[in-house]
Amino acid sequence: MLSILPFGLLWACAAPPPPAAPMPVHDVHSFARPDQVRVQHLDLDLTLDFDAHVARGRVTLMLERIDPDAPLVLDTDGLQIDCIEVDNASVPVLLGEEDPHLGRALTIHLPPGIDCVTIHYATAPTAEAMQWLAPEQTNGGTRPFLFTQGQAILTRSWIPLQDSPAVRCTWSAKITAPAGLVPVMSADVRSWDGPVGCFQMTKPVPSYLIALACGDLTSRDISPRCAIWAEPATIDRAAAEFADTESMIAACEELFGPYRWGRYDVLVLPPSFPFGGMENPCLTFATPTILAGDKSLVALIAHELAHSWSGNLVTNATWRDFWLNEGFTVYLENRIMEHVYGKDRSAMEIVLGVQGLREELATLPDADQRLHIDLAGRNPDDGMTQVPYEKGAAFLRRLEQVFGRARMDAFLRAWFDQHAFRSLTTADFLAFLDQELLRGDPQRAAQIDVPRWVEAGGLPGDAPVPDSALFAQVDAVVAALQGGAAPASLDTKGWVTQQWLRFLGELKDPSPEQLAALDQAFAFTRSGNSEILAKWLELAIDHGYRAVDRRLDLFLMTVGRRKFLTPLYQALLRAEDGKARATAIYTKARPRYHAVAQRTLDDLLGFHPAGK
Ligand code: BES
Ligand code: ZN
Repeated sequence: MLSILPFGLLWACAAPPPPAAPMPVHDVHSFARPDQVRVQHLDLDLTLDFDAHVARGRVTLMLERIDPDAPLVLDTDGLQIDCIEVDNASVPVLLGEEDPHLGRALTIHLPPGIDCVTIHYATAPTAEAMQWLAPEQTNGGTRPFLFTQGQAILTRSWIPLQDSPAVRCTWSAKITAPAGLVPVMSADVRSWDGPVGCFQMTKPVPSYLIALACGDLTSRDISPRCAIWAEPATIDRAAAEFADTESMIAACEELFGPYRWGRYDVLVLPPSFPFGGMENPCLTFATPTILAGDKSLVALIAHELAHSWSGNLVTNATWRDFWLNEGFTVYLENRIMEHVYGKDRSAMEIVLGVQGLREELATLPDADQRLHIDLAGRNPDDGMTQVPYEKGAAFLRRLEQVFGRARMDAFLRAWFDQHAFRSLTTADFLAFLDQELLRGDPQRAAQIDVPRWVEAGGLPGDAPVPDSALFAQVDAVVAALQGGAAPASLDTKGWVTQQWLRFLGELKDPSPEQLAALDQAFAFTRSGNSEILAKWLELAIDHGYRAVDRRLDLFLMTVGRRKFLTPLYQALLRAEDGKARATAIYTKARPRYHAVAQRTLDDLLGFHPAGK
């Protein structure tokens, strides 16, 4: 059991504390030995082949040799290594045994004094980080599209490197695309010469934040440092939806310190993108399912933007410390939303988040309810539950509740300022918390059982209980409905998306007839709001309202966002004859989903595609 006491005691006896030297961190999800040889910069030169679904070229790695006798060990997954050049000579390609989660280690022996290696390689058409989309999977429908998704340990399937968040490097890249397609990357310096893009990331970043997309893309500036990127058919809607992005950046700067990455752009991807958003530096990747037309789902942009502080600037050192990325980010996201859209909006979002957490906690084994989760021998994806997100954020809200907002904000700002561009562990955070907040105020510190929050399952009894006056209105309407009021008579005037989500979440055991009446009154099946629609479809499947079937089919065939797919397929599996329906739809839709969504759904549906 981890306790904060030893740190306190140690430092109380032996003042002053030692300077924070980066401690070697053991990352169970990487073969790399950055304590021996460390990649400091990488330079990529890749050509994209959209016919073969392959990227081909080379990467040159610049190294720091800490142990002069040690080899360089890299992570790879499915790469075809053609040749490795060291000191102008070709060296043997030494690939280790395949690990089911980690891929294969690539060991390169280095002569004394050599600090540069070039690897010529090609990616596999099945590379998990890369999704190659057919033209019909895009909005324009005429050009193909490619995007990469590195987090958590997928970058190794398109670049051989030290694929651990504890290793940060700067990078540069030249990407050659077919004529008419535009490559973009998560870089702070970018230029184009026709279909050739040159990119540079001048700040040290972890490998999972190196990202590439390529398609028929255009951009629209919405402020001097912020542009929206999308297909031409999507750009107007996207730029309007995200018009408040600059205000969000300004809000986060006011609260937590300067934005240190230069530009902040948002790229809207085709709907098969498996996540809501991905915080690739300088260029957040986002699902088009948040284009609701009324800015009601832009908390996702606040979230990805907040990662520019929590996650990208101060990074989890290993995937068991993932809550340091996501819990902090959900906390910051809510603070940005409060600042830009007011307390009513952020309060509703917090209530929905905590409700989702409580529902998921009921389904998770105790060990997976811990913030500091043990992921040894597992895929880091297994830790991607509401626990690091919502329990992590609840922990920070508890600290805010006890110490007050002013001290909390100063604490967070110091966390970011003092650890900028570093990767840290849970123990690092606990030591900093002890030093900055707890030790100086034992009375308040005694009100929070920190080890219980971090190392135990469940939500501690001292977790703040959020509430929302706007939800009280919704609950009254739900009570009227349950008491027999007709849907058309309900007073829902002025309701916003979050209220509708609360409404749908509170309906208890509706009959198919009741759902039909609600649909008649509120047209849920035709909703253009993906969150409302997904919740409605789940309710309809669970309660036998079959009028949604065509809409459900269309949704599952176009949207690849795992957060929506998983509950919908789960609901189908719960329904009578659902397994056959689920399998029939999945068989058609599966080729359109990204590998990470496929993995989750293959497991859920017991699907074993040929060759797996
Ligand atoms: N970094 C995550 C996405 C992620 C996590 C990808 C782990 C792969 C592995 C991103 O910031 C995120 O949390 N996205 C959420 C949206 C957010 C509003 C909670 C998502 O995609 O649902
Ligand atoms: Zn996140």
